[in-house]
Amino acid sequence: MSLLAVRNITKTYGSGRTQVTALEDVSFELDRGKLLAVLGPSGSGKTTLLSIVAGLLRPTAGEILIDDEPVHLHGSRAAAAFRREHVGIVFQDHHLVPYLSAAENLLLVPHFSGRITREDRERALALLAEFGLAERASHTPAELSGGERQRVAIARALMNSPEIMLVDEPTSNLDTERGKHVVDLLRSHIHGRDMTCIMVTHDARMAEAADDVLRIVDGRVAADLPA
Ligand SMILES: Nc1ncnc2c1ncn2[C@@H]1O[C@H](COP(=O)(O)OP(=O)(O)O)[C@@H](O)[C@H]1O
Ligand SMILES: [Mg+2]
Repeated sequence: MSLLAVRNITKTYGSGRTQVTALEDVSFELDRGKLLAVLGPSGSGKTTLLSIVAGLLRPTAGEILIDDEPVHLHGSRAAAAFRREHVGIVFQDHHLVPYLSAAENLLLVPHFSGRITREDRERALALLAEFGLAERASHTPAELSGGERQRVAIARALMNSPEIMLVDEPTSNLDTERGKHVVDLLRSHIHGRDMTCIMVTHDARMAEAADDVLRIVDGRVAADLPA
């Protein structure tokens, strides 16, 4: 059984003459241990799709099943609780807290779920080390490069050991080489673990590292094209 099933998702924003159909009848399934790249041009509905899978946005029609749980039916409190437990999100502009160090940004995750334990501190430092940031743990975001900030944001999203990682344009502010490095780190973390990741990107070079590629154009899944 798939970890994630996206079934016939449609999303329209607004109504009447200003109505925009951001997604139309999008379906796919995703197994554990996989990195899926959702590839599409700007405005094709990628962020909308991630927001719906994250439970941050309600679809107009369709279903999202995570481990067979119909998460699209969650109210906002249940959705938030589900996210805390099962989902890691890396937003496009990383959303790091500017006055906290890299390690403190990671520790916000356990902080919001209760209290910070010694294991949490150890986990934060281990994740930073895994992402090549051991020497940067006490630096604030302003003291980090763009690639380092992206890696901190990814490490933070991994703090709650999510089953599903949702990553929005992780390389949009990076050159190709640094972007690929970030994607490779993400992939090597996911492989061999019981988790899965959706990375959306407009950059076909970043999709090369993925296990599967879903192309979307104007809110629809494009017919399978050769890569
Ligand atoms: N909150 C919103 N209200 C109205 N239209 C929106 C909103 N968010 C996104 N859209 C529109 O939906 C379409 C898909 O947007 P988005 O999901 O952000 O695409 P992408 O992430 O691929 O650039 C675009 O036409 C965008 O203008
Ligand atoms: Mg977007």
